[in-house]
Amino acid sequence: ALCDIGFIGAGVMGKNLILNLADNGYKVCAYDLDQNRLNALLEQDAKERGDRPPRVQGCNSYTELLAKVKAPHLIILSVPAGAPVDDVCNKLLDAGLKADDIVVDTGNSLWTDSVERCRRYEGKLIFFTTAVSGGEVGARFGPSLMPSGDPYAWSRIEPVWHAIAAKVDPASGQPIERFEPGNPVKEGEPCAAYIGPIGSGHYVKMVHNGIEYADMQMICEAYHVMRSALAMSPADIAAVFREWNQGPLNSYLISISAEVLATVDADTEQPLVDVILDRAGQKGTGLWTAVSSLEVGCPAPSIAEAVFARSLSTRKVLRSRAAKKLQGPTVEAIAPARRAEAIAQLHDALYCAKICVYAQGFDLMKLAAREQGWQLNFAEIARIWRAGCIIRAVFLQSISDAYERDVKLSNLLLDDFFVQQIAEHQGNWRRAVADATLNGIPVPALSSALSYYDAFRMESLPANLLQGQRDFFGAHTFSRVDRPEQQKYHVQWSEPGRPVVEI
Ligand code: 6PG
Repeated sequence: ALCDIGFIGAGVMGKNLILNLADNGYKVCAYDLDQNRLNALLEQDAKERGDRPPRVQGCNSYTELLAKVKAPHLIILSVPAGAPVDDVCNKLLDAGLKADDIVVDTGNSLWTDSVERCRRYEGKLIFFTTAVSGGEVGARFGPSLMPSGDPYAWSRIEPVWHAIAAKVDPASGQPIERFEPGNPVKEGEPCAAYIGPIGSGHYVKMVHNGIEYADMQMICEAYHVMRSALAMSPADIAAVFREWNQGPLNSYLISISAEVLATVDADTEQPLVDVILDRAGQKGTGLWTAVSSLEVGCPAPSIAEAVFARSLSTRKVLRSRAAKKLQGPTVEAIAPARRAEAIAQLHDALYCAKICVYAQGFDLMKLAAREQGWQLNFAEIARIWRAGCIIRAVFLQSISDAYERDVKLSNLLLDDFFVQQIAEHQGNWRRAVADATLNGIPVPALSSALSYYDAFRMESLPANLLQGQRDFFGAHTFSRVDRPEQQKYHVQWSEPGRPVVEI
């Protein structure tokens, strides 16, 4: 019988998505340029199936793929973002793909590339995208999916995505996590929702990744303070993270951080974290978010700081030189008697800063949506991030609730629940940032979130002086507080008495 879905790319994500589709009863025909990858997929399928017949078929060419899949074709791509996506689309067209065939890009593509592709392939194929979050395990047992593009294509792909997506228990709002091959989670609310026109899904996923960068960086900063100022061992810090994971900070990233810190390197018997080189990698999505925030003019400083922190970490040689030359304060180990208090401060700092990071991310999506004419449903976006994705956290339910209460909410910080949370915890946040600073421990994400919060809540900012400076050196003009804003003024700085003239 013909297959339901053609799948191109059997790398880590592709292989697991294929097995997930197969678990959910879809017949998949897979193709990969690398025969070893295809073999690994077929072997894995055979292993999982045991005595039963295999569920996945392989093929050796694009032509064979099209012949083995039902028409109109539904083809899913899991290939590296960028040129490979176009390469595959063109090869599929050469192999006879038709105008009513659907191609779904699931890579971490730049959203503007998706918009261009949709235009480029118009009339030749239906180009649809679905951003996928959740890493290997998510792809295998339930990712969070952010589809966007042609509504007809969505009508065809919707049941497929709903089947394979992560599920949330509607009663508790918690992920239903069952990681058993052949026994997919069928109950619960699927973490897959149509985001909007082409480009919007990948934009939302890009912001997800920006939030992911900031979330990770802030956890690392809390670790750094505990390690340096509190002189705690990785195992002790793992225990703190495990405890935090029982409360409002409960999240996948906190739980895996505890796992990493609790792991001992088998070779050296040292904590694993101590043998990992402190040079952070990045593939670009956090950077794209920061760039977009600058372009849109929507501040996302903690996301940008997280990207900068990764960049600075890579300058290891320079940092080693600077470490020998540059003075800082003497790090004062906080007395053990004060340890619990300091840990509680860090907890609250992380919590408040996390609220600010999400406020930044959602604000950015809001402004970008306005610019692009997308109607984003923020309550739903927060809902589909509750399970499957890397930033999944209990906290996302509160964000979803905030947007349910007020669909027009202009910034998360203005939601009553979050107003209250920050009011309650900000004292500790400020003390944690101050202590880290006095001890010379960098906390760029935690502190930039605090500055964002403080600037956001100021009715008057020093931008009045700034406008004065601009007018002084460049006659850039300014508005006055006592006249209508559209009226512009300039000071004749070189004239006696510096008269103000209306422009
Ligand atoms: C996810 C992840 C995933 C990937 C990113 C981040 O949501 O599943 O965000 O997309 O891990 O590429 O990778 P970098 O840290 O390498 O930029």
